[in-house]
Amino acid sequence: MRLLGSDNLILTGFMGTGKTALGRMLSQVWRRPFIDTDKLIQERTGRKISEIFATDGEAFFRRLEQRCVAEWLPDSGAIISTGGGIVTIDGMSEALAKKGVVVALFASPEVIFSRIAGNKSRPLLQIEDPAERLAKIRELYASRERAYMRSGVNVMTDFCSVEELVERVTKIYNRACSRKSV
Ligand code: S3P
Repeated sequence: MRLLGSDNLILTGFMGTGKTALGRMLSQVWRRPFIDTDKLIQERTGRKISEIFATDGEAFFRRLEQRCVAEWLPDSGAIISTGGGIVTIDGMSEALAKKGVVVALFASPEVIFSRIAGNKSRPLLQIEDPAERLAKIRELYASRERAYMRSGVNVMTDFCSVEELVERVTKIYNRACSRKSV
């Protein structure tokens, strides 16, 4: 499908909603570079996200995310996957909207739980007991849900393949680009 603009496509959403998987696939299909804000922060600081959280805390990491959006992201042409907590930063929805077309991915806490079950790298979910981890996901999710909803066009991913999501997001992107050019 032809792309009708050169704006960035920005993916927001909770951990495990598929931002990275979809972003990588879009990057292949659209032939545009893929940028992950967590990776970019790791490259620029030379430090792992888990190490930043452990040493300097979450608030410091959020300031790095803010700087990443304001200074390190390109103005156009890329597919950008953001860290799951980026929308909790004051003014971030507006900042992201200025940087491109924003799509917010959603999944139910149970699906998120199963998608990230094998991944131990997320500093906010270092909880051994499965029931407690699910409870933490529910709590964090509930506290952020409105911020995700406000951040962009909402897309539910629970019952969608990556291929279906590529098609849907391509349509959303083209619609947003044509609206801007009128
Ligand atoms: C976070 C999500 C992570 C990463 C950090 C904090 C969050 O990104 O930025 O661990 O607060 O939800 P992913 O959503 O890519 O896992």
